Amino acid sequence: KSSGEGNANGKIILMGEHAVVYGEAAIAFPFQPTHVTAEITEHPYDQLRSGYFVGPLIKAPKSLENIKTLIRQLRHDFTAPPVQITISSTIPAERGMGSSAAVAVAITRAFFDWQNSPVSHETLLKYVNYAEKISHGNPSGIDAAATAGSEPILFQKGAAFETFPINLSAFLIVADTGVKGKTRQTVKAVAQRFEQDKKTTSPLIKELGDLTLKAKQAILNNQARYLGELMNAAQKNLAALQVSDQTLDNLIAVATKNGALGAKLTGGGKGGCMIALAADYTTAKKIATALTNQGAKATWIQELGVYQYA
Ligand code: MEV
Repeated sequence: KSSGEGNANGKIILMGEHAVVYGEAAIAFPFQPTHVTAEITEHPYDQLRSGYFVGPLIKAPKSLENIKTLIRQLRHDFTAPPVQITISSTIPAERGMGSSAAVAVAITRAFFDWQNSPVSHETLLKYVNYAEKISHGNPSGIDAAATAGSEPILFQKGAAFETFPINLSAFLIVADTGVKGKTRQTVKAVAQRFEQDKKTTSPLIKELGDLTLKAKQAILNNQARYLGELMNAAQKNLAALQVSDQTLDNLIAVATKNGALGAKLTGGGKGGCMIALAADYTTAKKIATALTNQGAKATWIQELGVYQYA
């Protein structure tokens, strides 16, 4: 083939971020309003074209080390010639939406497509997690699994993940704080805390996992109000783990004041995005407008009950 194409969605973690690194359950789903596509063609030398960087891959900044390593590995495994990778993405980078994993999913799919070779889910995740190790240090693998799939997942490290339908009549509002999230740092900070003060840290993490399992039941039973309470409880624990910050806390308070059933940070924290749950579209719009007025850089609304499987 003269070229290959691949794509992936952004992702939202509904419940269980950080705890998932310690083997607890987490719920994530592909977030359809955001996506990335990658195109691969043969080129005299490895070259990257993206909104962020255009030029020879060897000159790409350190933050793109994950892509460099991934391409090097794919080329090696296929004994393939140099390539040009064109990436176009609507997933904001470093906002807890899984943009690094999604880019790796899209590139790996494009590469296999170019090589005319089908790629199993397992192989895809192997390459993506390889790239994610470079981006995030110690990833649980949830970002890879959520951005590669097209359904909501209940994810637990090392276990086969479960997909399940979102049976909930409610709306999810996602707001970007406009501040770069710091997944690598927050994951490391929680790990340090875990080592230094296991006695208080361990129950916080365990409880986050329990809240996730309850959230799954709330979703299956269409209990939006209860899910909102569980989200609020999770945010309390995430704040106690010190992965929230003033900007996130402010937007969470704004959402609550404007009728959200629950609100929390999503993803790595310390910047990035927050999410809020609303019972109906009118409230969701009101919350989104209030969040924008209070400084959110971008907002999205997704109806959960009519989740469209890609
Ligand atoms: C990042 O999207 C989610 C974290 O739980 C890290 C991980 O699972 O790798 C914070």
